[in-house]
Amino acid sequence: MKMDAVKQNDVISMILDGLADRGFAIADQFLPDSILENLFEEQKLLLEEGRFKEAGIGRGSEHSVRQEIRGDKILWFDPENLSPFQEIYLFKLYDLKSRITADFFLSLNDIECHFAVYPVGSLYKRHLDQFKGVGARQISCILYLNKDWKEEDGGSLRIYYDVEDREKYIDVLPQWGRFVCFRSADIYHEVLKTNRERYSITAWMRK
Ligand code: OGA
Ligand code: NI
Repeated sequence: MKMDAVKQNDVISMILDGLADRGFAIADQFLPDSILENLFEEQKLLLEEGRFKEAGIGRGSEHSVRQEIRGDKILWFDPENLSPFQEIYLFKLYDLKSRITADFFLSLNDIECHFAVYPVGSLYKRHLDQFKGVGARQISCILYLNKDWKEEDGGSLRIYYDVEDREKYIDVLPQWGRFVCFRSADIYHEVLKTNRERYSITAWMRK
């Protein structure tokens, strides 16, 4: 096996261990820098073209835009029309998905994915990614595309990792190339108010 393949295997094993032991995992070497650069360039271009829409909360008839609760703008990947770099990222996610399926006997079918940008001053209050009564989303995955993010930039992802104790959390900076995933049904989380424009790609593995 080549060195890179060994390293990548370690990253995946570490993610699987995290999901099993704590319900979440953080990996800083999920994708090579060149791919990150291309995804970031693509995201900025699509944003300039005005393709992003205000994200909403709730589902179906309960769907609404409430920026005091959720202030990001998103653009869904179009499965019929993926860019080469979107394909590469999704390929990695499908690879991870097959390892999760094998290890946890979870049946996961597809993956939905969107770019997200949080404008200065925006946030996303504490929530679960599963809609009430709809358990399709099983694993949430977020990739961050922000160079040199500092503590004072705010915008951390706050993960409430203890289902029994809602005071327990960790704050994760949305650092360049950082990949975070967690169990969508159990893990409450929020995005703290950001003081800098904040870029990411969010995906869900679905049942
Ligand atoms: C979400 C979400 C967290 C983040 O899109 O549901 O919680 O850090 N995102 O972007
Ligand atoms: Ni969420």
